[in-house]
Amino acid sequence: MKRIGIIGCGHIGTVHAYALSQLTKAGLIDWEIDSLFDTDAARAAKVAKYNGGTPRASLDEALDHCDVAWVCTWTDGHLDAVAASVERGLPIFCEKPLAPNFTECLQLQALLRQVPHQVGLVLRWAPVFEAIATAVRSGKYGEAQAAIFRDDQFFPIQGMYGSTWRADVALAGGGTLIEHSIHDVDLLRWILGDPVEIAGRTSNRFGHSGIDDIATVQMVYPNGAQATLVSVWHQVLSRGSGRRLEVFCEGAYLHTTDDYLGPLTVETSDAKTEVVFDAPEWASMLDVPEVYEKAIAQYAHPNKAFLDGLDSQGGPVCGTPHVDDALEAHRIVEVAYRSAASGGQPLPFDVA
Ligand SMILES: NC(=O)c1ccc[n+]([C@@H]2O[C@H](COP(=O)([O-])OP(=O)(O)OC[C@H]3O[C@@H](n4cnc5c(N)ncnc54)[C@H](O)[C@@H]3O)[C@@H](O)[C@H]2O)c1
Repeated sequence: MKRIGIIGCGHIGTVHAYALSQLTKAGLIDWEIDSLFDTDAARAAKVAKYNGGTPRASLDEALDHCDVAWVCTWTDGHLDAVAASVERGLPIFCEKPLAPNFTECLQLQALLRQVPHQVGLVLRWAPVFEAIATAVRSGKYGEAQAAIFRDDQFFPIQGMYGSTWRADVALAGGGTLIEHSIHDVDLLRWILGDPVEIAGRTSNRFGHSGIDDIATVQMVYPNGAQATLVSVWHQVLSRGSGRRLEVFCEGAYLHTTDDYLGPLTVETSDAKTEVVFDAPEWASMLDVPEVYEKAIAQYAHPNKAFLDGLDSQGGPVCGTPHVDDALEAHRIVEVAYRSAASGGQPLPFDVA
């Protein structure tokens, strides 16, 4: 079996390790976790205990024992782990956001382009968003006119998040816009294309310096369409993460409040339909408690696709999304932050 190395064994490293070990156990991938490394050795040991593999004493030791690297450190740690993996020619699954600042994002782009890779913007694998992107981009409902995306989450240094780095701008790069809503920015770009103009406003109510807990972004597209993103970190602890996306085309209103299987409601002049999508058929082979089924399928799906791609092509292939797409999402975030710093002045997309 080919060997997986997990670099960073916190919240998302644990989720990936669990999803990957379940895929291995079900015989759905010919890969297994071999090595785990975290600067907090206890975390690597804990993930190894439940998902297999050997905790390693250093990044180098872990990378020397693997055929693919899963980079799951907090955001500021991605660059070093990716650089060391690229040096060894390893394929890389790199978590989002790429890096805390746009300069480092460009460095990560240059590195990841050298190896097979996939970025952890996993919502591109959600059937409900794929259906919206396919329908809107096909033009079957006429031109897109407007999108409204609301993303909210409790401030993630509590609850299921066992760490506090998201309150540290040096490690996270910013707050809810870059850390959480980079997913939404990527989805909007996937559905509507590149904007021509971006305006952003950010606020900080909880007092963590440089960490926006409210962000709004207005985007204007070449055909005059407009999108608004509202991203909030609040203190409603029952709301771990919620997304609501509405898209108006000339001939249809599309709407969902779920970020994986829907339902997706599509209303036209003639009919109103509601579609619930299926998880991949193989997901039923995973031995996962019901309460975790959705979350694990959400990650197992892109993970399996990346490894299947490596197996089937063996050469310099890439998963979805490619770092070039991730970089463009970062460019939008960067322009939105620059706009916010200037009081919300609209700026051209290509300014960064
Ligand atoms: N794709 C998604 O849906 C998703 C979801 C959650 C988090 N993330 C991203 O994953 C990353 C990690 O987030 P998290 O919630 O798991 O944080 P976390 O704090 O739970 O885990 C991060 C781990 O990285 C370790 N670490 C830090 N620097 C390291 C280094 N140089 N080498 C090895 N280990 C190191 C820390 O000790 C910690 O255990 C962030 O970039 C975050 O944005 C992505």
